[in-house]
Amino acid sequence: LWTPDNIIEDSIARVRELVGDEKVLLGLSGGVDSSVVAALLHRAIGDQLTCVFVDNGLLRLGEGDQVMRTFARHMGVRVIRADAEDRFLGRLKGVNDPEQKRKIIGNTFIEVFDDEANKIKDVKWLAQGTIYPDVIESAGSKTGKAKVIKSHHNVGGLPEEMNLKLVEPLRELFKDEVRKIGIELGLPSEMVYRHPFPGPGLGVRILGEVQKDYAQTLRQADNIFIEELRKADLYDQVSQAFAVFLPVRSVGVVGDNRLYAHVIALRAVETIDFMTARWAHLPYDFLDLVCRRIANEVPGISRVVYDITGKPPGTIEWE
Ligand code: XMP
Repeated sequence: LWTPDNIIEDSIARVRELVGDEKVLLGLSGGVDSSVVAALLHRAIGDQLTCVFVDNGLLRLGEGDQVMRTFARHMGVRVIRADAEDRFLGRLKGVNDPEQKRKIIGNTFIEVFDDEANKIKDVKWLAQGTIYPDVIESAGSKTGKAKVIKSHHNVGGLPEEMNLKLVEPLRELFKDEVRKIGIELGLPSEMVYRHPFPGPGLGVRILGEVQKDYAQTLRQADNIFIEELRKADLYDQVSQAFAVFLPVRSVGVVGDNRLYAHVIALRAVETIDFMTARWAHLPYDFLDLVCRRIANEVPGISRVVYDITGKPPGTIEWE
């Protein structure tokens, strides 16, 4: 009989048999899949697991601390946090092209991960949060493009010399099964039922060149949007929602003063498979509240717009 409980027991037994007493390394992103792998492997092999969490400076507000709190502090998982904001932002200086930005972020991620991995002695296994749809997608992909994006995200690019064996305990599972297991393993439901977040993070939500102060501004605006969605019980009704930083300036007015400041776009979509999507018809009063809060609370923003483009013709992300 299939129950989350059975799957967990079964996976634990299989992992133990597979890795024995050898050490396992996992790239923890804070996303659902790698989080569930971390919790599962921790239950199965305890301190034989070391997670590396790369903070690229392009995460959402408080995200790095939240990952450390959940895994390191609450669950006692061994997690190394690599603070690599300067390295990422340094590499992204002057780069405007979205694909170029993705490549740089992916490559820098591998570098940082690799540096950390090399500090850990005697690792024999690399754990990955590959789930069943990833397996299908990679097998069916003619161009290999989807696979490349995923593999960056899932640390598939680790140098061959490391010669690690792969352990992928979620390989036969669908997303909803992974979520149920996550809950059963004691992960917080906000983490397990979180909207997807792209590997390149805010790097593709700051249009054009990424700058540190743009990222700070975007994080604040995005946090207000998400916070209000949760308060209004709308978060789980949309498939993905986020703010985008537009580096164009528009004129606004605050009191008697003219303000010439940047623009935030809000995006929320409803979709089953993320291949096509409908823009979420959020209530006007709700949008009004979010706009007011962002304009009042986030320095450097004078205007907020709502994206009413479906996919197609738009993609979900702006870059
Ligand atoms: P688009 O923008 O292509 O997005 O309609 C579809 C879904 O994929 C996510 N996305 C990415 N995820 N690396 C990722 O891991 C990426 O480079 C990337 N680009 C888009 C996007 O957030 C949406 O859920």
